[in-house]
Amino acid sequence: VSEARARAAEAGSLDELEAALRRFEGSSLRLSARSCVFGDGAADADLMLIGEAPGRDEDMAGRPFVGRSGQLLNRMLKSIGVERDAVRVTNTVPWRPPGNRTPTPAETEIFLPFLHRHVELVAPRVVVCLGNAAAKSVFSTEEGILRLRGRWLELSVGERTMPAMAMLHPAYLLRQPAQKKLAWRDLLALKGRLDTLG
Ligand code: URA
Repeated sequence: VSEARARAAEAGSLDELEAALRRFEGSSLRLSARSCVFGDGAADADLMLIGEAPGRDEDMAGRPFVGRSGQLLNRMLKSIGVERDAVRVTNTVPWRPPGNRTPTPAETEIFLPFLHRHVELVAPRVVVCLGNAAAKSVFSTEEGILRLRGRWLELSVGERTMPAMAMLHPAYLLRQPAQKKLAWRDLLALKGRLDTLG
């Protein structure tokens, strides 16, 4: 983790951060994955979304949230008037875990300095974590997503503190469509917050 912290701190731009991540050998996840999925969307976005990990489609494409979950995510954003391109999107880990398993807490911890630097460089005004793994890692909590979701918390990264919320992961919503009503509530809360930014 200390090496990750040093590498991340040295990066003065998103390009440098991506290059540092590609070179970073502190996690074996890179050995079984095809692409380093760094992130996409606006480099100065007001809203930053943090997902769990690349899946098969993302590993092929080298971009986050391009598969079925990504399509649902795009529709969710659109439903509150947000274009996907205007949002910065990344994950807790940049390499696809074997068989799409959830990254372990140790794996997300290794990459946390890179994720924090990513947030610092984009400097979003609002952060949303998608799903349990991202929420646990970013908020450093053991609380489960069903309790955590929908509540505004404060996230401090570097010099900045910003409002942040956890929402249900689109992949979970694909498996549990009845939970979409909770997601809708959270999306409206997000819209309300974004509307206040002006
Ligand atoms: N699920 C995630 O958490 N992230 C992706 O990029 C794709 C699917």
